[in-house]
Amino acid sequence: MKFENKVVIVTGASSGIGEGVAKMFLEEGARLVGCGVEPQMKIESDRAIYVQADLTDPAQAQNVVDKAVEAFGQVDKLVCCAGVTFIGSLETTEYSAFLREVSINLGGVFNMCKAAVKELVKSEDPSIVTIGSDLGVRPIPERIGYCPSKAGVIMLTKCIALEYAPKIRVNCVLPGLVRTPMIEQRFEEAQDPAALEESYASLYPLHKMGKVADMANAVRFLSCSKDSGFITGEIMNVCGGSLI
Ligand SMILES: NC(=O)c1ccc[n+]([C@@H]2O[C@H](COP(=O)([O-])OP(=O)(O)OC[C@H]3O[C@@H](n4cnc5c(N)ncnc54)[C@H](O)[C@@H]3O)[C@@H](O)[C@H]2O)c1
Repeated sequence: MKFENKVVIVTGASSGIGEGVAKMFLEEGARLVGCGVEPQMKIESDRAIYVQADLTDPAQAQNVVDKAVEAFGQVDKLVCCAGVTFIGSLETTEYSAFLREVSINLGGVFNMCKAAVKELVKSEDPSIVTIGSDLGVRPIPERIGYCPSKAGVIMLTKCIALEYAPKIRVNCVLPGLVRTPMIEQRFEEAQDPAALEESYASLYPLHKMGKVADMANAVRFLSCSKDSGFITGEIMNVCGGSLI
């Protein structure tokens, strides 16, 4: 068990990658504080609590940390999975929608890290992992807010890693496409879901989509100081070779 007695905050634990990451930490013995915009998460455990929060609001991010300390007395690890994807180009996207996406994907990471570092610095084994995207490095059409917001997450990760070294290690995972509720609607609307999956797989040199477990494995490695204790400010591409 890699995280026995550690207290871990996972944002976006109510869905998709965050939910998978949260389950991984529970399996590895951690006590879990999940958060997200949904009223609750699906995970049930006597070692887990859930705090509903819109992380664009600094006070709500602070409340997640306060509830973690109230329930478990400390915070050792933070994983920022919460995020949204809006589809649109420069021409079709209103400034308000652009700002909203940046506010959730980048501002939410800022707010959560800012609230959590006050507790993380007290831990003997602290770390932060952020979830960016390969699209934060390699733009595609119709993601005018998403790509810049994820590029920002990469740089924010490096800035926090620099500011909090040597105390807190801070690293970023860049997933490729993973079939989660974030993209499930595209499969529901597709005439031929198998053909859609094949077309997504063909975007990657490894010729497949990613799995939630691929992301959880990367987060496990980067959060465990025995495995990655000499790594900080790094970007781990878990995207089937799309950035080769
Ligand atoms: N699924 C993919 O293909 C893919 C690819 C690359 C990167 N990512 C990134 O991985 C992360 C997780 O994506 P997913 O596919 O699991 O998405 P998802 O839609 O399944 O889950 C998103 C989670 O974010 C939370 N969230 C959204 N807005 C929030 C807010 N304002 N405040 C707090 N929480 C909020 C939701 O409550 C939910 O728990 C995101 O940052 C996403 O950009 C996903």
